[in-house]
Amino acid sequence: MEHQKNSVTGTSSSRQRYTWREIFALALKHKPRLVRANLLAIVATIMSVPVPLLLPVLVDEVLLDEPGPVLPVMNSLLPAGWQMPAVYIGVMVLAALLLRVAALSFNVLQSREFSKVSKDVVFRVRSRLLGRLQRVAMSEYETRGSGAISSHFITDLDTIDQFLGSTISRFLVASLTVFGTAIVLLWVHWQLALLILLFNPLVIFATILIGKRVKELKRRENSAYEEFQGDLTETLDAIHQLRAANREKHYLRQLIDRARNVRDHAIQFEWRSDAASRASFALFQFGVDAFRGAAMITVLFSDLSIGMMFAIFGYLWFMLTPVQEILNMQYAWFAANAALARINRLLELKEEPRYPALENPFRDRHTVGLTLRNIHFSYGDEQVLRGISLDLAPGEKVALVGASGGGKSTLVQIILGMYTPQQGDVLIDGIPVQRIGLPCLREHVATVLQHPALFNDTVRQNLTLGRDKPDVELWEALRIAQLHPTVEAMPDKLDTVIGRQGVRLSGGQRQRLAIARMILSEPSVVILDEATSALDAETEFQLHRDLEAFLKQRTTLIIAHRLSAVKRADRACVFEDGRIIEEGHHDELIALEGLYAQLYGERQL
Ligand SMILES: Nc1ncnc2c1ncn2[C@@H]1O[C@H](COP(=O)(O)OP(=O)(O)O)[C@@H](O)[C@H]1O
Ligand SMILES: [Mg+2]
Repeated sequence: MEHQKNSVTGTSSSRQRYTWREIFALALKHKPRLVRANLLAIVATIMSVPVPLLLPVLVDEVLLDEPGPVLPVMNSLLPAGWQMPAVYIGVMVLAALLLRVAALSFNVLQSREFSKVSKDVVFRVRSRLLGRLQRVAMSEYETRGSGAISSHFITDLDTIDQFLGSTISRFLVASLTVFGTAIVLLWVHWQLALLILLFNPLVIFATILIGKRVKELKRRENSAYEEFQGDLTETLDAIHQLRAANREKHYLRQLIDRARNVRDHAIQFEWRSDAASRASFALFQFGVDAFRGAAMITVLFSDLSIGMMFAIFGYLWFMLTPVQEILNMQYAWFAANAALARINRLLELKEEPRYPALENPFRDRHTVGLTLRNIHFSYGDEQVLRGISLDLAPGEKVALVGASGGGKSTLVQIILGMYTPQQGDVLIDGIPVQRIGLPCLREHVATVLQHPALFNDTVRQNLTLGRDKPDVELWEALRIAQLHPTVEAMPDKLDTVIGRQGVRLSGGQRQRLAIARMILSEPSVVILDEATSALDAETEFQLHRDLEAFLKQRTTLIIAHRLSAVKRADRACVFEDGRIIEEGHHDELIALEGLYAQLYGERQL
């Protein structure tokens, strides 16, 4: 949004990277829920921390017969007949059960709240990224491939999701538990507790040292996934042709190689991060043994009672789980960091230029003129267009003929702003597109391509692309496109699903569906790029005859390599070697045909 003011803003957008701060800012949008979740977590911790203390406090008073503070309280609550050791112990076990059930319930509730927050954060990131896709330059899609791009949306966001989901909810509870345990330990015997607590940072430091080595591995694992997903998508898209050419096996074998690569990298990350986390945990467990020894020695040399020693044992045990969770979080953190870096690569993809919508030449006009002025374009080193100039008056119909591979379709892409020419301008009624904006241009200029993109959806959806149109208009468009008998014969008529890429239709039917789609969009300017190449001569003739009334008031560019398709144009141009070499009015088409036949050995007029 912030670019909208600048005229032609740069094509890269390194400024808009995701940082963790932004991600947590997204989480903070759920403040009330986060507060509630935190409170629930605190209550859960308060319920669970006293549990390890319950039975050990009875050891001194019940087993060793030493006076203490607990039995007097219990005796005041219990009837005289029940005041015996088995009942004391039973009461404590019952209390432990109740506290554990309560802690469990609160923990379930807090984790539900936290997952709502983390899933929503991931959803917001995902939808923002989808918004970005809208502006990514076509050339980037072509070089990166849809599978690789979709891997960011699936694998990488999932990694971040796992990190947020586990971390936000568990980190708090784990830290609170460690903190609560620390307080109880300090209360029981502060010297011993200090020894234990000072050891904790030491373990964490050691694990960070170990953990550093696995950081890079997660990134490699996800890259391997990206390659796999890219190839898988491509192979599946072409599966029909691969099978027909009997090359399916070869491509599947290639995929297996990619899958093997995923396996190898995943193994590396998995076992090393697991080994690292086990090593740090073992270190901590050994610490626990050492502290138990220290606690026993403390009993020998100070006033620590046996019961309290057991309590310390219990708390050491109790601390193990949260400490392990905190230690493991760093691996989730490394993984999420790598995923975020990869997601930011998505944001670094080049964007289409964004032109401001300063003027709208289409407003209140049925059609407009289209001018191409000295357009030069190359995809890489090879020049495809070498100075195209063409002027279409409002309502004029111009045919462009030329050999396949000459650059005619490239010119269409340039008119639509899919590619930016290295030199030259596209103008609508004399106004350069830089002042009109690409969305406005595309809203009013409709193209029909030789191989139209169709969706595995109904005829209706393929016609309207989500616009609201009454059925009569759909049928009228189908009638002009010579497709109404076909659709009428379909089992569900307009609601028939046409299969992936429209596989249930013939090539010619797909083209006619695309023409009907173009008619429904009520464009000002129409570009037909070999739009009827798959039709038989008879149908093509009828179609052009019926299209005539529709195209009459609309500027039209008809591209073909068959002259028969351009008979109805006012004027024809020959496209050759990246330039327009010959122009002639309809009457001169005969002469043009001679030239054409010379060039391509075809005589079809
Ligand atoms: N997306 C692309 N990236 C790189 N080169 C392309 C791309 N599209 C077309 N080309 C090349 O540009 C030339 C012109 O192609 P095209 O415009 O499709 O020709 P036509 O429509 O006249 O058959 C061809 O040599 C083709 O290989
Ligand atoms: Mg073409």
